[in-house]
Amino acid sequence: MTTSFIDNSLATMRPVDASGAPYGRYTRVAIVLHWAIATCIVFNLSIGFFMESWPLPIRFTALMLHVSSGLTVLALTVARVVWRLLNEPPPYPAGMKPWERHTAHFAHFLLYAAMVLMPVTGWAILSAHAPPGSRGAAAEFATPPVSLAGLKPGVAPPGAMSGRPSGPPPILKVWNLVPMPMIAPISAIGKEPGGIAPLHVLHEEFVAWHSVGGYLLLGLLVLHIAGALKHQFIDRQSEFARMGIGSDT
Ligand code: HEM
Repeated sequence: MTTSFIDNSLATMRPVDASGAPYGRYTRVAIVLHWAIATCIVFNLSIGFFMESWPLPIRFTALMLHVSSGLTVLALTVARVVWRLLNEPPPYPAGMKPWERHTAHFAHFLLYAAMVLMPVTGWAILSAHAPPGSRGAAAEFATPPVSLAGLKPGVAPPGAMSGRPSGPPPILKVWNLVPMPMIAPISAIGKEPGGIAPLHVLHEEFVAWHSVGGYLLLGLLVLHIAGALKHQFIDRQSEFARMGIGSDT
């Protein structure tokens, strides 16, 4: 570990890297985006794996929050990528070994990919239904694998909270405010009754991708947090301060 404490001109003993520069922090905007995205992801993973087994009213609210938080991740990730392209991140501490830098880079790339692909596959699950009012929608609702007696279109049938192809998807509002738009090219596949079967196959594919993605993202988060803890406590680098926790002095 090559951290030294040579910034005596300021008499503050600030840690500096090999070039003599103090360890940088991310910009305030990058820090806020990082923690907002992290909070939403942890929330989504925490309820995502369990919400299917909850009783209906709670399950529906959980899905609304899950969807809203997930779409927020997507929007914040776009903002974060734009910010990152415009603002150079602080350099890694000089003491980091090449394999650690490569691993961190690769893990960050995978995290960005997951922050886009998880919301998109989730959105695709709910979009994999015939557009309301189409002939396909009538066929989709007319031949459900579960009893839909007494249910109105747009109301989630029991056990179909996620809008599994057993009837129309529940009507969801993002943060209970804005009706969630569907991904039109996906729902258009079910416009005609003949498109319903392929759409149902697609629906199950999206559920599988979203589920596998959830486990992979969980693994990535564990790796990411383990790396940060190692740099902070074993290598004694000011890792937390880079992301706004505590000071680097
Ligand atoms: C960072 C964002 C997201 C994360 C980390 C996440 C994570 C998860 C996880 C872990 C599950 C459980 C998968 C399983 O049962 O194995 C799940 C389920 C689900 N998610 Fe997400 N999700 C995200 C965003 C979204 C978005 C934006 C939507 C919709 C617009 C969505 C819709 C769904 C649905 C419908 C299910 C239930 C799938 C089923 O039928 O089993 N998710 N999510």
